[in-house]
Amino acid sequence: MGLRTFIEMLDKNGELARIRTPVSTEYEMAGIINALGEAPVYFENVKESNYPVVAGLVSSKERICRSMGITKEQLLPKLLSAIQNPIPPQVVEEGACQEVVEADVDLTKLPIMRYTERDGGKYIASAVAIIKDPESGARNMCFHRLMLKDKNHFVARIVENRGTDTALKKAGGELEIAFCIGNSTATLLAAATTLPMGVDELGMANALEKSDLVKCKTVDIEVPADCEFVLEGWITKEKASEGPFLDLTGIVDRERQQPIVEINCITHRQNPIYQTILAGKNEHKFLMGMPKEPTIFAEVSKVCDCKDVYITPGGCSWLHAVVQIRKQNADDGKKAIAAAFKGHGSLKHCVIVDEDINIYDPHDVEWAIATRFQADKNAVILSNQPGSSLDPSGDLSEGKKATTAKAGLDATAPLVSTGKGFKKVDYMKVDLTKYK
Ligand SMILES: Cc1cc2nc3c(=O)[nH]c(=O)nc-3n(C[C@H](O)[C@H](O)[C@H](O)COP(=O)(O)O)c2cc1C
Repeated sequence: MGLRTFIEMLDKNGELARIRTPVSTEYEMAGIINALGEAPVYFENVKESNYPVVAGLVSSKERICRSMGITKEQLLPKLLSAIQNPIPPQVVEEGACQEVVEADVDLTKLPIMRYTERDGGKYIASAVAIIKDPESGARNMCFHRLMLKDKNHFVARIVENRGTDTALKKAGGELEIAFCIGNSTATLLAAATTLPMGVDELGMANALEKSDLVKCKTVDIEVPADCEFVLEGWITKEKASEGPFLDLTGIVDRERQQPIVEINCITHRQNPIYQTILAGKNEHKFLMGMPKEPTIFAEVSKVCDCKDVYITPGGCSWLHAVVQIRKQNADDGKKAIAAAFKGHGSLKHCVIVDEDINIYDPHDVEWAIATRFQADKNAVILSNQPGSSLDPSGDLSEGKKATTAKAGLDATAPLVSTGKGFKKVDYMKVDLTKYK
């Protein structure tokens, strides 16, 4: 369902906190969203802007599933199927996101937040960027945090060697771009996914949930017709200092020279709703990590019987995964480790467990490590691997890809029981209502 339908549903169920007291975008709004534990919240009265702000819509797996009308169990297969079978979206003549066209751009009218005192400026962290590859014309969708510079400029964080950066280099350093704010969950998840070059990520969104597109007014790019705001413009050759900014790890990401983006035109719905997310917290984490679960699942399934994958929040929803397999061969655990690292290049640690372990319960996973794992036999340790730029303990030297050590723990029980027993013993199940 679209963003508005989901907001209405939460509101009807009494699950949306409505805040009518005037709230400032400077630190206060972030503080309130955090204090509410990222539960859905709607700020009706924003001190610095006429637009209301919504947050916390995709702050748990359960909410993400509800916003798409599916169960938790259906999520991974649904993502995998949309990744493998994108459906070309339809381009329609009119879209709600263009009900109002503002050629006289003033970005300072938007409720752009300043998250913490350590940040280099006011930031949009929820903007989904869409560009086209200048050679193939293929669309790419990605999140790029935007630091406000002035009325019509941002500095955008564009991570090297991903879709936008690759297209930008091919285009000689200048590229048209559109940023969409206030998106369906399908669009958010597809934007956070890396598909092979040339595969349309808007097609993945459309396969998750029908998402028609509309042509932008001033750039040759199509955007989801139902989003709330579209900022149209181009990435310039000019650079400026971007950061510091709170990142996925909860640690401040450093300052870098990054491209300046110029915005030429803003389109939006009538009475648009500005969607925000808290950097470094659950919404950021789930959106970032979850699309990697199907890619790990697909790789592990090539070498053994994979049952489920969970990118854990404790590992910043990016660096750690638990993989559940049905072990049939003695070396399935080790094969699954190698495949998991292939399925997610930034994965640093993974634990492979059997079917009887609840991968969503960290105590149960630790129990498997405590009772089924021997470090000198069941660990795989790799040095000097390509790693994540987000992990401050890795080698983050300027001008080269981050490198890291990696470890995989095979915490599956041996196939042939050694007589010690590897199963938990449970007590008789009773119905407590019978006992007074
Ligand atoms: C909330 C959120 C914020 C993100 N911020 C950025 C960012 O500022 N810059 C960036 O390059 N990637 C960012 N990412 C990661 C990209 O969206 C992600 O790597 C994307 O899948 C890359 O897609 P591509 O390989 O198809 O270009 C962010 C992801 C999320 C979920």
